[in-house]
Amino acid sequence: MKGKTLKWLRILHIVSTGIWFGATVCIGGLSAICFFNQNESAFFIIAPLVPELYRQIILPAALFTIAQGLVYGFFTEWGFFKHRWVTLKWVFTILLIPLIGVGAIGQMFSLIDKVKTTGFYGGLYDGGVVLLFISLQVIIMLIMIGLSVFKPWKKNKKSASPHLI
Ligand code: HEM
Repeated sequence: MKGKTLKWLRILHIVSTGIWFGATVCIGGLSAICFFNQNESAFFIIAPLVPELYRQIILPAALFTIAQGLVYGFFTEWGFFKHRWVTLKWVFTILLIPLIGVGAIGQMFSLIDKVKTTGFYGGLYDGGVVLLFISLQVIIMLIMIGLSVFKPWKKNKKSASPHLI
């Protein structure tokens, strides 16, 4: 895959990762609103929206992005292990899966159960762990965006930018 096709793949990739990143930031914002500004009844309305947004928005965007990663790996000069920054992006992408599943979604479900039995305290006392997992996702994705743009550890100009060949 070369030239224009590669550019289209790049557009798709930037759009889907933009949706993934932007939606994660918004979920973080919604969670903060849910923990800091609300009472118990509002909590029970807003909190279940967090796993739902992960399912409806992040899951398709993430699967689409991973599919593009496979296309980059199998059908372009970027490969899987030819460039350290591409390999690192795979490591970070795999790391994001437990941070989303066991982390943000799992912790939100256990928090909902906890609030049902012991009541709503709000703030970081209730929301700290969920907010931590969402923040980690945002930080990791920011690092991935930096890696993608700077493409560090370049061997030489040709191998660093196969789409320009
Ligand atoms: C499976 C994981 C991923 C792989 C294998 C991968 C691979 C790549 C490759 C090879 C490029 C270079 C495209 C080019 O210059 O023609 C790229 C670009 C880019 N990637 Fe990824 N990516 C992955 C996930 C992500 C994620 C999760 C994000 C952000 C949250 C991201 C953000 C970007 C951005 C912003 C660019 C554009 C850089 C530029 O055009 O200068 N990628 N990716």
